Amino acid sequence: MYENPVITVVGLGYVGLPLAVALARHFEVMGYDIDEKRIAELRSGHDRTGELSRGELTDSALEYVTDPEALKEAHIFIVTVPTPVDAENKPDLRAVESASRFVGSLIRMGSVVVYESTVYPGCTEAFCGPILEAESDLIAGQDFFLGYSPERINPGDKVHRVDSITKVVAGQTEKVAQLLAQVYGAMNGNDTFIARDIRTAEASKVIENAQRDINIAFVNEIAEIFGKMGLSIYDVLEAANTKWNFLPFSPGLVGGHCIGVDPYYLAHAAEKIGVDPRVILSGRRINDNMARSIAARLDAELPRGARILMLGFTFKENVPDIRNTKVIDLVRALEEKGHDVAVYDPIADADEIRAHYDLSVIETPELAYDAVVGAVPHSGFAELPLRGLVRADGLVADIKGIWRKRSVPQGLRYWTL
Ligand SMILES: NC(=O)c1ccc[n+]([C@@H]2O[C@H](COP(=O)([O-])OP(=O)(O)OC[C@H]3O[C@@H](n4cnc5c(N)ncnc54)[C@H](O)[C@@H]3O)[C@@H](O)[C@H]2O)c1
Repeated sequence: MYENPVITVVGLGYVGLPLAVALARHFEVMGYDIDEKRIAELRSGHDRTGELSRGELTDSALEYVTDPEALKEAHIFIVTVPTPVDAENKPDLRAVESASRFVGSLIRMGSVVVYESTVYPGCTEAFCGPILEAESDLIAGQDFFLGYSPERINPGDKVHRVDSITKVVAGQTEKVAQLLAQVYGAMNGNDTFIARDIRTAEASKVIENAQRDINIAFVNEIAEIFGKMGLSIYDVLEAANTKWNFLPFSPGLVGGHCIGVDPYYLAHAAEKIGVDPRVILSGRRINDNMARSIAARLDAELPRGARILMLGFTFKENVPDIRNTKVIDLVRALEEKGHDVAVYDPIADADEIRAHYDLSVIETPELAYDAVVGAVPHSGFAELPLRGLVRADGLVADIKGIWRKRSVPQGLRYWTL
């Protein structure tokens, strides 16, 4: 369709920015984001998500463009905006809707619009397509074409990068699918898979994360069972993991933008067609309740009104992303039980935490807490001097097994899942 397409990426977050920079090594790429602060930071060479270094940004040919007239020059539009859930855990498609309106105002005959945001099967064609049609006065599949390519990157993961993982692509027509395979293939050594159609590609993404969620829920459930039996889940997993086909999942809080959210998109789509997604929602319930369950178990180990140091606040280790972190649920649950919790996270942005969660984090831990809780296994936490941080007979609560393989100083009590 296009020998050398010009590409516009709409939404320059965790997904859109690395993608735009990788594509800009091979194509002319314009990047657009509604967040002006983000654009200013990126122009100055700073990626607050920590995915790209200053050098990677300043060396990139990616152009940050805010002028819609200039953006219209693109042949391919790639939408990478957030798809969270609302307070009822239903898909919140407001960003997808507004980005689609915007892209609809830019497209012309022959344009290709690809969605990378994680959605439920059918969303691209049944929800986004009509918005694009209404805004552009063009017809999808005839005047312009839809595509879908799920994103698989994993924040903080320096091995599985956007240009080193298999990219699933799908198009409204065979030609569009081929074009997308060629475009994405240029950045990742032609490691692409053409899915049968757009709905299949959408479905494949949403089950990748639902599968992880369900497996973690199983491990979280057995952690509770074994905890009551006086067994450590980590000891049990270490033994079970020696079997060739045992799946290596770990217990813990399931937060973030993907694993704790995407299963609700699938559940929503299932309910719409009259299927009760029992396993999917049961997994969600277990994982969503994990913070409360851990708080109850910790409370049983703590003195009344304990001073607690919570180590880590982000949704996972070594990333600054605090969206949908479940550590906040743990903090609130412990506070409800009368404890005094100080949160320390050297990676997260304190202002962002205050703005999103109305919580002040400490800059430096004090000494002699009644308990230290390892909530997120950021690098460096394993080496913290526990003896000073915790009072002489205090508690080291190791949710993620940070200190499992180290000897905890004598006198301190050690608790783990
Ligand atoms: N973060 C991940 O690791 C990951 C992995 C796979 C898939 N995904 C999916 O990719 C999508 C994007 O996730 P993310 O983590 O990059 O989100 P993000 O919040 O980091 O980035 C989204 C960006 O889109 C911008 N934006 C919002 N509305 C916009 C609009 N109308 N027009 C232009 N820009 C707009 C925001 O300002 C933000 O910079 C989501 O659907 C997510 O589920 C994310």
